[in-house]
Amino acid sequence: MAITFDKDKGIFKLRAGSSDYVIKLAWGDLVHLYWGKAVTDADLSPFIRQAIRVYSPDTHPGEFVSYDFLPLEYPFYGTGDFRQPAFQVQTSDGYRLAEPKYQGHSITKGKPALDGLPATYVENADEAETLVIDMFDPLIGLRVLLSYTAFERYNAVARSVKFINESASNIKLLRALSFSLDFMNCDFEMLQLSGSWGRERHIHKRPLVPGTQSIESRRGVSSHQQNPFIALLKKDSTEDTGDVHGFSLVYSGSFLGSVEVDQYDYTRVAMGINPFDFGWTLEPGEKFQTPEAVLVYSDSGLTGMSQTYHELYSKRLCRGFYRDRERPVCINNWEATYFAFNEEQLLGIAKDFKELGAEIFVVDDGWFGQRNDDSSSLGDWFVNKEKLPGGLKSLGEKVLSLGMEFGVWVEPEMISKNSELYRAHPDWCIHAPGRRQTESRNQLVLDLSRADVCEYVINVLSDVFSSAPITYVKWDMNRSLTEIGSSLATPERQIETAHRFVLGLYGILDTLTAKFPHILFESCASGGGRTDPGMLAYMPQTWISDDTDAFERIKIQHGTSIVYPPISIEVHVSASPNHQIHRMTPVMTRLHAGMAGNFGFEIDASKLTSQERELIKTNIALYKEIRPIVQFGRFYRILSPFEGNETAWIYVTEDKAKAVLFYFKKTAGAHEPFKILKLKGLDQAKNYTLVGLNQSFSGDTLMNAGINTPGVIGDFGSSMIRLYSE
Ligand code: DGJ
Repeated sequence: MAITFDKDKGIFKLRAGSSDYVIKLAWGDLVHLYWGKAVTDADLSPFIRQAIRVYSPDTHPGEFVSYDFLPLEYPFYGTGDFRQPAFQVQTSDGYRLAEPKYQGHSITKGKPALDGLPATYVENADEAETLVIDMFDPLIGLRVLLSYTAFERYNAVARSVKFINESASNIKLLRALSFSLDFMNCDFEMLQLSGSWGRERHIHKRPLVPGTQSIESRRGVSSHQQNPFIALLKKDSTEDTGDVHGFSLVYSGSFLGSVEVDQYDYTRVAMGINPFDFGWTLEPGEKFQTPEAVLVYSDSGLTGMSQTYHELYSKRLCRGFYRDRERPVCINNWEATYFAFNEEQLLGIAKDFKELGAEIFVVDDGWFGQRNDDSSSLGDWFVNKEKLPGGLKSLGEKVLSLGMEFGVWVEPEMISKNSELYRAHPDWCIHAPGRRQTESRNQLVLDLSRADVCEYVINVLSDVFSSAPITYVKWDMNRSLTEIGSSLATPERQIETAHRFVLGLYGILDTLTAKFPHILFESCASGGGRTDPGMLAYMPQTWISDDTDAFERIKIQHGTSIVYPPISIEVHVSASPNHQIHRMTPVMTRLHAGMAGNFGFEIDASKLTSQERELIKTNIALYKEIRPIVQFGRFYRILSPFEGNETAWIYVTEDKAKAVLFYFKKTAGAHEPFKILKLKGLDQAKNYTLVGLNQSFSGDTLMNAGINTPGVIGDFGSSMIRLYSE
């Protein structure tokens, strides 16, 4: 049994994979006892620290505990716990207090879906058990349902919360985080994935210090700047050993991830919708569902944590036809033509790349309305007949006749001021009356908190997707939200607009992904501005950055791999000098960076030398051979671009029969010291041939003794080695 309840002792023990999560009902409260590697004892009550603390509020008279230091499962505000609360409400009398108490619980097989929000799922009820703890505050009529799913196969617990107003008056949620968790020590480093446009998800680590250290987005999207993810690394942990706890939020809007170290060196971690500029009114009988947070424990360092997220997210968060299918080699025209193209040019690019081995052609921005630059036409999703006289249909059919599939770019959450849509519906954008409408990339954001706007988006996109043989959609989103307000919301509910925007988007995606199950959706937001588990639930792959420079990209690939599965990461080979940072890199290195993800191109083949064309052709063929290893294998980081001059990754098939090693070296040096690279993840007993190198070694030799680091020449070099067991 994954979840047990010891009635006499009031102890819930959730066994998730080989980890335990333990909660105790004590003093009428829900107290967190433990989360870590599985333990035999069910009763961990001695873990509750009891002491006289002179300055603490006397919340439990006669007992040696106080809310000031009790590790509560879902802490509330105002009654003596001065750390960050998980939630806060305001009742119609203006008070902001709640103290829900345990009422009962249920333990069921499987995992129910969340109302209106993406979440991890099971395919078979035996894959998980779900505990719902029912908490109630009778004074204000507020019910709080805490949900915990323990996965059988994974060291993962999914948490979320549902609030129900059972009173006769309105209750306003001021804060409603998805979870809170207390550790009774602070012996951690905090890892976060932060950056900016073009350098998303760089790894940053810092030791915890007293006070709050947090990451957040206030942009209305999860953002380039911070990813909704935190890991706490035990100080003695490494890439492959020791305790690591991961926290990942399945949400695509503004979020908060906070870690607070208190006066007693306890650590409180919490995550959820950003309470900043958030509020939600619950009328009598109404419910509010928080997004889900996925908590992963690893006793094998970051590797174990990443591999759990990779497997769980690629198999039980991603959905649909493409979840378990190899992803096509793509040629996209963006960096080859930008907005300046016609049908003939596009077909030329498609044909060139068909000859080189690409499998799908995707037409990017500029095929609709009057869109010849980024100043107009978002919202006008009808074909620009000057560029494509026969429409998407003719282009798509011609691409198909080349023997390729066909895909299209859209940015449906946006509206250009210079568009027919804006002229017809100026109130359809997110805005506040009388205030300026701040544009970003010359565009405004459609108000997806409105049902009529969502319906328009669904209808217009359904027409586009049915108008041509489209099997791939790149779904872009190129700005953050400003002047957040909705012309249809009541004054009291204006503050709900940002979250309602996200719910509207998820509703649209629910409809379209169900209606067009044969379409492979790729999420993009000026590159990786919305690389989050919420989008992954609808779109099994992501354009993780606009920066296509190979060496900048491998940093982003490395950081992204901390949480997101390699099969979700699309990487394209582009021109040199690179368009974003003007660096020159060898074509082979650009190819290797692409082959380490879902491989694609955005380059004008007519500008390639015949030698480059040959290299591309050979390597696309090679990629098709290694594709199952890269896309479905286990991923191990060996050397980090954030820690030195070299990067190395290895992908190993589940049966450990095959592996592919990628190695990148940034700058060359004279008479460099010899170095050894110890491989990972192989079968100790298997013998592996290093294809093309005339060498073969046992797995234990390769992992324990290692190999010489591959020799590469010059700056920005790379190497790829296939290891196949006999
Ligand atoms: C931003 C994306 O990240 C690019 O790949 C490209 O699709 C442009 N938008 C098009 O406007």
